[in-house]
Amino acid sequence: MALKEHIQELLKQVPGLQAANAEELEALRIKYLSKKGEITALFNEFRDVPNDQKRELGQLLNQLRQETEGRINCLREQFEEKKAETDRLDLTRTPDPIELGTRHPLSLVREEIEDIFSRIGFTIAQGPEVEDDKHVYGMLNFAPEHPARDMQDTFFIEKEIGVQKPTDVLLRSHTSSVQTRVMTSQKPPIRVLCPGRVYRNEAISARAHCFFHQVEGLYIDKNVSFADLREALLYFSKEMFGADTKIRLRPSYFPFTEPSAEMDISCNICGGTGCSFCKGTGWVEILGCGMVDPNVLEACGIDSKEYSGYAFGMGVERITNLKYRVKDLRLFSENDVRFLKQFESC
Ligand code: DAH
Repeated sequence: MALKEHIQELLKQVPGLQAANAEELEALRIKYLSKKGEITALFNEFRDVPNDQKRELGQLLNQLRQETEGRINCLREQFEEKKAETDRLDLTRTPDPIELGTRHPLSLVREEIEDIFSRIGFTIAQGPEVEDDKHVYGMLNFAPEHPARDMQDTFFIEKEIGVQKPTDVLLRSHTSSVQTRVMTSQKPPIRVLCPGRVYRNEAISARAHCFFHQVEGLYIDKNVSFADLREALLYFSKEMFGADTKIRLRPSYFPFTEPSAEMDISCNICGGTGCSFCKGTGWVEILGCGMVDPNVLEACGIDSKEYSGYAFGMGVERITNLKYRVKDLRLFSENDVRFLKQFESC
């Protein structure tokens, strides 16, 4: 083939040159541009071309070399880009972005309560949610006909499905049941915090739910006094709601404590001056407490002449409402991410 046709033929092939990998690309370079390559061979032939054709063929030949080099460089760049892309690729990542979850506000508050009491020596104790009458009521000095046992309040568990018979298996209605479990299985000194879920047969509304959460506290030792209880609760209130918080103990009644009290804190929303949250009183109730009734100690096998103790119980939802101003209890159990996301940074 004459030199000119040979060059033109190759020029036509250049744009279609392909290489599937780096080795094939190198093979192309060797085929055309190396010392023994086709284009180098054409340059050798060019030396013998008559002078009057040199200008035209020289230009064509240079064009061929440039275009071949250009094509090979272009293919090389494509490989390099692809390689950089695969280097950047993290094959361990999941294909869809997974949103980071948030801590549930009730867990945040429960953990804060646990943290505050753990600093003064309380450890965590747990008990079953499906309980019996004895641990929830009997050993806690509830009289046999006490209204708390009423079907209106307590969820009883039927032993045979569909057959409604009186039964003593129930869902615990308060975490005070964990007190009886701890006192019957451990010897004083006892200093425990019992967080957990409780159940009551209530119509669900913004202010009541059929399940909620409590934290119970129990301290049994020699010479434990009401002053110890007051100091522990004051310490807790200041840690939880701020150093300016005041507490107030009002006489009350619980079957398992004597004397018993309800505790208010100075309203942390208005600072005690009176607002709609505290109904203008400046105080909000947060827990029940008292000295463990000697009958309870004896029922659990603890000598009430040697030991005394205090107990308290609070609702986690109530504390959370005070901290985060959640107005509707139902929000806690609906799993609405728009609600939960607000606690992302807590
Ligand atoms: N168990 C009570 C309730 O569910 C709360 C309570 C009151 C717990 C006084 C106590 C206590 O330990 O001393 O309403």
